[in-house]
Amino acid sequence: MDLIRIFDTTLRDGEQSPGFSMNAEEKVRMARQLAALGVDIIEAGFPIASKGDLEAVKTVAREVRDARIAALARAKQEDVDAALEALEPAAHPRLHVFFATSDLHLRAKLNVTREQASEAIGAMIRRGRQRVGEVEFSAEDASRSDLDYLCQVCKVAVDAGATVLNLPDTVGYAVPEEYAAMFRRVREYLGDPQGVTFSAHCHNDLGMAVANSLAAVRAGARQIECTINGIGERAGNASLEEVVVALAVRQTSFGLKTNVHLEELFTSSRMLSEITGVQVPPNKAVVGANAFAHEAGIHQDGIIKNPLTYEIISPETVGVPARSLVLGKHSGRNALRMNLRDLGYDPSDTELAECYRRVTALADQAKQVRPRDLVAIAHEVMRRKPAGLASAATASPAPSVA
Ligand code: KIV
Ligand code: ZN
Repeated sequence: MDLIRIFDTTLRDGEQSPGFSMNAEEKVRMARQLAALGVDIIEAGFPIASKGDLEAVKTVAREVRDARIAALARAKQEDVDAALEALEPAAHPRLHVFFATSDLHLRAKLNVTREQASEAIGAMIRRGRQRVGEVEFSAEDASRSDLDYLCQVCKVAVDAGATVLNLPDTVGYAVPEEYAAMFRRVREYLGDPQGVTFSAHCHNDLGMAVANSLAAVRAGARQIECTINGIGERAGNASLEEVVVALAVRQTSFGLKTNVHLEELFTSSRMLSEITGVQVPPNKAVVGANAFAHEAGIHQDGIIKNPLTYEIISPETVGVPARSLVLGKHSGRNALRMNLRDLGYDPSDTELAECYRRVTALADQAKQVRPRDLVAIAHEVMRRKPAGLASAATASPAPSVA
């Protein structure tokens, strides 16, 4: 089975978004977790951006030995030299050189001609290859570039020694068929060169970053660039957890594998939130608080009978400690009984009916019934201590089933 390499850019593209900046110590902590997660490449930063970032990339390169470490550089000598300096201690360094290829960026942002751009790209890749074995080239704004020019630039990059060709959807403008077609066209133009990996890098401005990345894979990309929790410029990058879980859950459709240990996903997600102080939205796929929470009675009943009825992934597969059957106005008696049992109560049918009446009445006023509300209701209705627990009134476990 073919391997999709996971290039994590949480510490670079992710860090570039407001509120996500990390110091060297935080980057090293996160990078260690990314290595434990099994990502193939960790992009640790953009060394020319600041002295601090250069040092942070260097520290990650020194401390994290079991993943490739990448550093970003524009196709400019000072950028490339800063990135190479930061990568010096790395066991497996990768220089990541980028330059815009769309006419809009070339004219409005950089004020250079296509020819000048091609020349700078070739020269800087050659410079990098003198010092490291792996150089990735990214054609910034590839999805809005003239396809003939994009093909020519990619040839320049490969001839200069690039081993990875990344075609980013920098502004999240592409739709899946279009993005896939771009990969097919460039691969065909280059005659599928040996030793060159194609890479997808998608932003989420239209909410299609993961779909576009997977479309690129169907068109021959074998590296996906993504971030934990989908953080990144503006609406973010493709979310790592969504990409790898989609490839795993739909393995018969894709026929591809990754080196990622799925059970480390939840820990990685929460570590990033803890470091940055930015919480994951509850409805976020795979790692959001609601990803394995069920409130509707019909769903709860199905889950109790067989989790496959309403879950395509089990919580333990991605390291989530437990699913929860949340008590709200939509929830059912079976879930209530389960929650009461978790608290140590074994209600008769009449007691359960009374608890249910009170729970739904409370849920009509509050958004959710919290564990301590349920303990209070159970205590009042049953007027006895829960079986097997010294004091249910003081215990407040989350209502959940494992
Ligand atoms: O989105 C983008 O084009 C980038 C490149 C620098 C790879 O982040
Ligand atoms: Zn990007």
